[in-house]
Amino acid sequence: MAIERTLSILKPDATRRNLTGKINARFEDAGLRIVAQKRMQLSQAQAEKFYDVHRERPFFGDLVSFMISGPVVVQVLEGENAVAKNREIMGATNPANAAPGTIRKDFAESIEANSVHGSDSLENAAREVAFFFAESEIVG
Ligand code: PPS
Repeated sequence: MAIERTLSILKPDATRRNLTGKINARFEDAGLRIVAQKRMQLSQAQAEKFYDVHRERPFFGDLVSFMISGPVVVQVLEGENAVAKNREIMGATNPANAAPGTIRKDFAESIEANSVHGSDSLENAAREVAFFFAESEIVG
């Protein structure tokens, strides 16, 4: 299986509740390696640009407001099949539909405050990783 990199974001509801260590343990226990990580406060312009693909969706304004409501931790996860593996560990977007044992089932508060973001394809992963990190900041 291919070694992939995917972008992960620990969202403001996770940093607010001091859950970054518990969530990172889920990634590491699943065999994903955190090869880059930084805590940051997104600006409105950054959040709008990152979520540009969702600009026409009714929740766009709420999503951007939420993502700038507190610090986030952006990170690059590396491992076998990392994109799909991370999506599996995260669970469904809406925690009400997330499988038992997933991050969103165990930690998310709502469809908006759902604790984590993960790239949904290898192509988007490359774009999203490059959005936040220079190649020199990623240490495998
Ligand atoms: S997914 O995982 O991309 O298929 O999910 P999707 O339903 O397309 O949602 C895209 C992102 O929008 C967030 N979202 C919402 N935010 C606020 N309010 C509502 N109602 C809402 N519905 C979806 C969802 O958490 C996804 O965020 P990311 O950061 O991409 O996981």
